Amino acid sequence: MKITVIGAGHVGATAAHRIAEMQLAKEVVLLDIVEGIPQGKALDMYESGPIGLFDSKIYGTNDYQDTADSDIILITAGMARKPGMSREDLLLKNATIVKEVTDRIMQYSSNPIIIMVSNPLDIMTYVSYVRSKLPKERVIGMAGVLDSARFRSFIAEELNVSMKDINAFVLGGHGDSMVPVVKYTNIAGIPLTELLCQEKIDSLVDRTRKGGAEIVNYLKDGSAYYAPAASAVEMIDAIVHDRKRILPCSTLVTGQYGMDNVFIGVPVKIGKNGIEEVLEINLDTAELEALRQSASIVESNCSNLADLLS
Ligand code: NAI
Repeated sequence: MKITVIGAGHVGATAAHRIAEMQLAKEVVLLDIVEGIPQGKALDMYESGPIGLFDSKIYGTNDYQDTADSDIILITAGMARKPGMSREDLLLKNATIVKEVTDRIMQYSSNPIIIMVSNPLDIMTYVSYVRSKLPKERVIGMAGVLDSARFRSFIAEELNVSMKDINAFVLGGHGDSMVPVVKYTNIAGIPLTELLCQEKIDSLVDRTRKGGAEIVNYLKDGSAYYAPAASAVEMIDAIVHDRKRILPCSTLVTGQYGMDNVFIGVPVKIGKNGIEEVLEINLDTAELEALRQSASIVESNCSNLADLLS
């Protein structure tokens, strides 16, 4: 297994180190446009091997030839948000970067699975899908795992119970229009609605929607990266170990939930072939409407990129 991480910034470097620590690949390549940064960070990570007890070969580069024959490529290259910015504010700049990165990686890897992290997430996943010409099952966006982890952590804190017992998922686009699905949220099988009043649930849902901005406002000069990196690596772990996990991921829907040809967060089965199934679950009318509304925002942003992608 060879895993390449593009972008040696906060998310990329944190993810690369976690991939090595979890021994998910024999070879981990960290690539960035800035000279020295990926080399220095990767060497530092490699030197933690004897203490962390991993043997992965991990190295940094600015040369795409070093990414040749990667099985999985995690794309984190691009700008992150600053206070007051929405994810959509990153659109044109990051679309240009993701287009170039995808073109370059595809020169050296013929059939990788791409996991997208760069924002605005669903749109960048679409850009990479179009440029890579890979089957839709092999280009996957990371957002729902993170948004769900945030929701689960807030619920655990509120109820003072173990995070392990919280099942929850967040669907839709990775933005203010995301759709936390309360109906299927449970604590060791007990519906959330049995344990918290509606007002409290609403406030946790609201905090989840604004979870990214909460951290941006603290950091001032960048966005979250520990939970995002952990979320992306959870998806990589599911692929490497063919775990058939059910995770909310951004995928190209083809008729499911009444939506077509748009990348959006829905529950999927994820294993060695990437996305192996899209699960269509029952949503109530308001949730379905919110999901479609979220998809239409993604769609209109994608159509603005027609010139760039041609
Ligand atoms: P960062 O600024 O720390 O790192 C980005 C890295 O990309 C930098 O090292 C930069 O030199 C590199 N880069 C820029 N252009 C490049 C190119 N053409 N080729 C190769 N590398 C290039 O940013 P951070 O915090 O790591 O975030 C990365 C992206 O991930 C941002 O777009 C951010 O919004 C997004 N993000 C998405 C999340 C999600 O849930 N999907 C969660 C957190 C961040």
